[in-house]
Amino acid sequence: MAQRTLARYLTEEQRNKGVITGDLKLLIEVVSRACQAISIAIGKGGLGGVLGEAGSDNIQGEAQKKLDVLSNDILLDANEWGGHLAAMASEEMDLPHLVPHRFPKGEYLLTFDPLDGSSNIDVNVSIGTIFSVLKCPDGADLSTPESAEKAFLQPGTAQVAAGYAVYGPTTLLVLTVGDGVVSFTLDREQGQFLLTQENMQIPADTKEFAINMSNQRFWEPPVQRYVDEMLAGREGPLGKDYNMRWVASMVADVHRIMTRGGIFMYPMDSKLNAQGGKLRLMYEANPMAMLVEQAGGAATTGRQRILDIAPEKLHQRVPVILGSKNEVERVTGYHSA
Ligand code: AHG
Ligand code: MN
Ligand code: MN
Repeated sequence: MAQRTLARYLTEEQRNKGVITGDLKLLIEVVSRACQAISIAIGKGGLGGVLGEAGSDNIQGEAQKKLDVLSNDILLDANEWGGHLAAMASEEMDLPHLVPHRFPKGEYLLTFDPLDGSSNIDVNVSIGTIFSVLKCPDGADLSTPESAEKAFLQPGTAQVAAGYAVYGPTTLLVLTVGDGVVSFTLDREQGQFLLTQENMQIPADTKEFAINMSNQRFWEPPVQRYVDEMLAGREGPLGKDYNMRWVASMVADVHRIMTRGGIFMYPMDSKLNAQGGKLRLMYEANPMAMLVEQAGGAATTGRQRILDIAPEKLHQRVPVILGSKNEVERVTGYHSA
């Protein structure tokens, strides 16, 4: 049988199942080509002069790396002219980017974390791109970047597609259009993403957790309790020995969980209280929560399903607990115990 390319998968979702529109198909293909370009830039590393600091800060006050800025520019350039988008928003831009007047406007909104895992760029560890697609509400005011922000403030349940690219030993694109989760591998010679896994499923139980343990003293009691119980192993209340993994690129940690299960936590802690959490709702938590739920897992803040949060700000941060369903439900239950 012929290899199934991303284009073919999307055509079948459109033509046979009616799950996506032609414009959404185009949008996802354009994002995938941008991810290929980012993958090439990352692959050059020190030879391409792309490593190191950009010398600027983003809206969150974080120092931007050259590759953060380059990846953002690649995604903007690829997406603004195709006629499928109304506006874009990114971790690396204070305000939404409107489609310039010289190009037609479409009905979708795209948000992205152009490069996730900044701390891992210069040390050659897996990094990624995360994206989320919403429909632009009818009558949205897109006259200025400031007024356009409101159009994006929709709960994660309104996402029509979400995905991530992971730039690791291979470059993968993991995608949902609300019809399960599929994974494509970049064939570098052909310059195409080829379908390599259908119907990704996260096992409901796990013995593997991912959390930055250096924050332990700042966590709230429910997370303290849960991690203590896991560390107690076979002799403890959970009755099994756990393993710990933390790549510190959300994309890589979530991809491990999509592949073999596990629980990922960037929970609320006393350092993060004022800012609401560490990870960003619109372009980190929501797309990952949609993918995880589509794969049979769960995603909460500890107190609420992530996809149900009504966003108040474009760059809003939230606590994130996601992965194998039974474990996410356990620690979420501890928050209301
Ligand atoms: P980004 O590089 O897009 O700013 O995101 C980094 C995030 C996420 O990828 C990861 O899970 C987390 O920050 C790592 O945080 P620590 O450095 O506290 O481990
Ligand atoms: Mn990130
Ligand atoms: Mn980033």
